[in-house]
Amino acid sequence: MYRSDLYHPGSEIADELKSHYQRLHHVPFPGFVAAEFFPELKAEVDRLLEQSRRRDFLMECMDNSPRRMNVVNGHTIERLSTLIPQIYNDQRIIDFLSHVVGEKVLPLTDDIDRYVINQLRKSSDTFGAHYDDYPLSFVLIMESPGIEGGGYAEMVPNGALSDLDVNPIKLPLKAADAYLLKTDTTAHRVAPLKVDVLRTAINLAYTTENFVPRAITESANKLYAEEEA
Ligand SMILES: [Fe+2]
Repeated sequence: MYRSDLYHPGSEIADELKSHYQRLHHVPFPGFVAAEFFPELKAEVDRLLEQSRRRDFLMECMDNSPRRMNVVNGHTIERLSTLIPQIYNDQRIIDFLSHVVGEKVLPLTDDIDRYVINQLRKSSDTFGAHYDDYPLSFVLIMESPGIEGGGYAEMVPNGALSDLDVNPIKLPLKAADAYLLKTDTTAHRVAPLKVDVLRTAINLAYTTENFVPRAITESANKLYAEEEA
């Protein structure tokens, strides 16, 4: 399913990826999804997107940053997909992520946002500035317009949400790439689309053994609950 030859704890590049993550609180994994498996995963995501819900509102608890996107939440994915929960719980992937993070990575059990699909569809669609309640997000890119079309992740490690307007790290990735992000302390967002084009991602949320949760915000429920809270 994925390039386990590159992305395993003993691989040639594993320690380089680990030190990149330790320094910058994110790391890209180019070509993570194996080319021969990608069409099957893409078809599964497109099938699940038939159940997606439109969101268009400002998230009060995150400085009123916009959410203009389509979402498929964890409960829907659990009901309709075996493939995505299987990837989420794949012990080899979790072991690899644990190596990169330097701590034991653990899946969540029934959170509505433990696995979700997010899709930006038209110009100005965006997943605005925020932090996550959990410390790790592992994102598989399914469709991306590239830097010229917008829809790339932007981040500021240990930054304020407003720092994203100053000089964020930009992460333009392409279909089948993945990235890992330390999401509880990194201000992050998906930049607005500049044209009508699809930017689609599977977001997998994990915690770590020693993570001490802060107060859980209302943001995950507002974005992913069946009816807007
Ligand atoms: Fe996030």
